[in-house]
Amino acid sequence: MSTQPIQRPELSRDPLTSHGSPTPAEWFAVEYDPATGEVVMLDQRKLPAEVVYYRYTKPDQVADAIRSMVVRGAPAIGISAAYALVLLARSEKGDAATFLMANGVAGRALNATRPTAVNLAWAIARMSRKAADVAELDPEARYEAMRAEAEAIHIEDVQSCRAMGKLGAEDVPEGATILTHCNAGALATGGYGTALGVIRAAHEAGKKVRVLADETRPYLQGARLTAWELHMDGVPVEVITDNMAAHFFQKGEIQFVVVGSDRIAANGDVANKIGTYGVAVLAKEHGVPFTVAAPWSTVDMATPTGAEIPIEERSRDEVAKVGGALLVGEGIPCRHPAFDVTPARLVDAIYTERGKIAPKDGQTPADLPRAAAE
Ligand code: MRU
Repeated sequence: MSTQPIQRPELSRDPLTSHGSPTPAEWFAVEYDPATGEVVMLDQRKLPAEVVYYRYTKPDQVADAIRSMVVRGAPAIGISAAYALVLLARSEKGDAATFLMANGVAGRALNATRPTAVNLAWAIARMSRKAADVAELDPEARYEAMRAEAEAIHIEDVQSCRAMGKLGAEDVPEGATILTHCNAGALATGGYGTALGVIRAAHEAGKKVRVLADETRPYLQGARLTAWELHMDGVPVEVITDNMAAHFFQKGEIQFVVVGSDRIAANGDVANKIGTYGVAVLAKEHGVPFTVAAPWSTVDMATPTGAEIPIEERSRDEVAKVGGALLVGEGIPCRHPAFDVTPARLVDAIYTERGKIAPKDGQTPADLPRAAAE
């Protein structure tokens, strides 16, 4: 793997992304290029072997990219969907009713791509409210307003990551080895990361932390993505296979766990990448804090408990094959739930941009301050 700075495609403005490395944004997950009217996306399926970006001009291309995991991670897919609706606003020159109809069709198609991460629905709903507000404007003004809203979603996500990172970093013990699962980093967000934001903030604060990254079968986001971005930023990281975590807990080698989330129910139950629940059970058994970092856009107050969170079932082939090599014989069925739910009682802390709660002590997201508009 190359540790040289990676050339990113030229954009007509500085990227909004900031993942925390000394050289800002030498790579990014998703950006919008206003000069060309394109969504520019890093293909995360190819990392770390290749660093390849695509440029998209149509909302359905972005929907395909989300579905096929060119881009992934709850906040990053929400931001991508917001930019997809900017593409729609750029090309749709019809009257207000035509624009709103087209925005609704594109929004529903985007929303259907991945069911568990609520940030997707959250971003589409926010963009659709803006579409309703500006529908009567002329097409150019409408497009500019939609673009400003998507960029605000992107920038606010980075700011949220930095705020929750700072908060979580205070709880990270000096010299800790931190276990994380999946990728909740700059690749999965607008930049900086949620769980990796906590780790970056602890590292920036001078704490001598090191990271164990679960490989995260079957999609290997830990091995391919978390290790790659932490290594690029100079944070000490080692990859372990998922079945090694219990061993390292038992040996006393893990002092802190932090993960991201795709949806947090009103009672504090946390949906995250498959395997997270097992890590939480291990952490409880070994008396290690199990913590979650996520923006408010991941909190779903309309879903009472984790039992009501829809769990995405992905294709058999992602389990049956690795890098094209066959692991499971043809015709043998495989199961592939992409997420699991960790009950609130196993969660020591949830860090958000609005503050911190302790679900294991009965606190829920309702205990966090509300925004003025809510
Ligand atoms: O299937 P993915 O790769 O989109 O799943 C991502 C995760 O589970 C992340 O941990 C979660 O989205 C938090 S990202 C800040």
